[in-house]
Amino acid sequence: MNMNELKLDIIQKSDFNDILELTTNPDIMQYIGNSKIWDKEKVSKFINYCINDEKVKDNKREQYYYKIINSSDDFIGIIGFHKFFRKELPQTNNDFFLTIYLNPKQQNKGYFSESMKLLIKKMNKEQPRKDKLYSLVRQSNEKMNLISKAKYKFIKKIKLNNELLNLYLINTRNKKQTKKSTKKTKKLTKKLTKKKHFF
Ligand SMILES: CC(C)(COP(=O)(O)OP(=O)(O)OC[C@H]1O[C@@H](n2cnc3c(N)ncnc32)[C@H](O)[C@@H]1OP(=O)(O)O)[C@@H](O)C(=O)NCCC(=O)NCCS
Repeated sequence: MNMNELKLDIIQKSDFNDILELTTNPDIMQYIGNSKIWDKEKVSKFINYCINDEKVKDNKREQYYYKIINSSDDFIGIIGFHKFFRKELPQTNNDFFLTIYLNPKQQNKGYFSESMKLLIKKMNKEQPRKDKLYSLVRQSNEKMNLISKAKYKFIKKIKLNNELLNLYLINTRNKKQTKKSTKKTKKLTKKLTKKKHFF
């Protein structure tokens, strides 16, 4: 394992202090959930939810959160995907939303893209219901909007609780799936082109 190689791991009680440090930082939390910083009770509750979520069957599970760690077991941040039931949002059984927040000391090191790759791999492997992964970004979140505009597909602006957010669609297909669908599209195009000659 090289020094900067990352891993996603299940969240445990021993992560309490790292999660508390992250979730009591207002610079981070202004962009997460309801924008409020957490207290110790909320951190414990979150950890317990994560531990219990691990026992839920994938076809019923509504949230998946992991810690991001490096090869020295340093805590880098939290990443996950979850349902978000709001009438303003896409919410079929297969739509999920992204959560990611990194410890400020660990930002600007390329860990965002690395963690996203790991999450998508996990999603494709472990979540049979997964169809679409969205990222919902507050308009005030300049960095995440710049990243998302560069990497993902902008869908629309959404107003939630009197606040404007940008909705992006993340490509979660792995290379194999993309290849398969390109092949399928090519086949279909060929068929259609052939058909055209009959008329
Ligand atoms: C958003 C967050 C996870 C990004 O992590 P980060 O370590 O700061 O991001 P990085 O600096 O590694 O940049 C990520 C990618 O975006 C690119 N990027 C960075 N700034 C960019 C910009 N201004 N324009 C376009 N792309 C940009 C980088 O090149 C990098 O891409 P690459 O890995 O393919 O080279 C992190 O800043 C964070 O935790 N913020 C607070 C919480 C938050 O806002 N979460 C998102 C809620 S929606």
